[in-house]
Amino acid sequence: MVPAAGRGTRVGGDRPKQYLPLAGRPLLLHTLERLAAHPRIAGLMVTLSADDGHWPGIDACAGKPVRTAVGGAERCHSVLAGLAALPASVGETDFVLVHDAARPCVRHADIDRLIERAGAQEGGLLAAPLRDTLKRADAWGRSVATEPRETRWRAFTPQMFRRGALTAALTAALQAGQCPTDEAMAMELAGARPLLVEGAEDNLKVTTAADFALAEWLLGQLN
Ligand code: C5P
Repeated sequence: MVPAAGRGTRVGGDRPKQYLPLAGRPLLLHTLERLAAHPRIAGLMVTLSADDGHWPGIDACAGKPVRTAVGGAERCHSVLAGLAALPASVGETDFVLVHDAARPCVRHADIDRLIERAGAQEGGLLAAPLRDTLKRADAWGRSVATEPRETRWRAFTPQMFRRGALTAALTAALQAGQCPTDEAMAMELAGARPLLVEGAEDNLKVTTAADFALAEWLLGQLN
């Protein structure tokens, strides 16, 4: 599942960033193609904003079905809408991988490792241990403390959980007034302990103009 209902225009441009060109084609299409080319991914569900005027209307990618659903106000609402719109052939205990539209450079070897390791447990996510020293800032941007970094990880995607468990966790979080910023947060709130599976740092979330240039170079290396 690729939540792509964000209207984010932080990077600038006349359209949401998932539709900005990367090597001449929309960022989102690169991400969908990379996922669809993975042999263990059966199909794609893409959540779009209600007034999305850029979706190319495709219903297949690399021979896999592509379905769409209308997303919601925040990522968590969009993922919940996508889960509800999955076909009945996706069982409650089947795993769903949720992947950011803005991460086109995810490596198939990392997806393999996520499926093997997190699939043997209650699910998990690609992530990387923090390498920089972590500072806590005050309101004036001054460093007031150094946080321990040994236990801190950066959360990437895909994040992989069972359809039913993730639906229940997101629903409970929203009912409790929380809006989880990723799927693992919803699962943590529900008492689960998602497995952190170390993935390549170049699975970057394309956000700035410099990221577009870097992602273009990375895609050339991967393909
Ligand atoms: O804004 P951010 O980069 O954190 O968004 C992460 C992902 O969630 C993006 O792929 C974005 O399109 C998606 N999203 C969504 N529905 C929203 C907000 C964000 O599907 N309402």
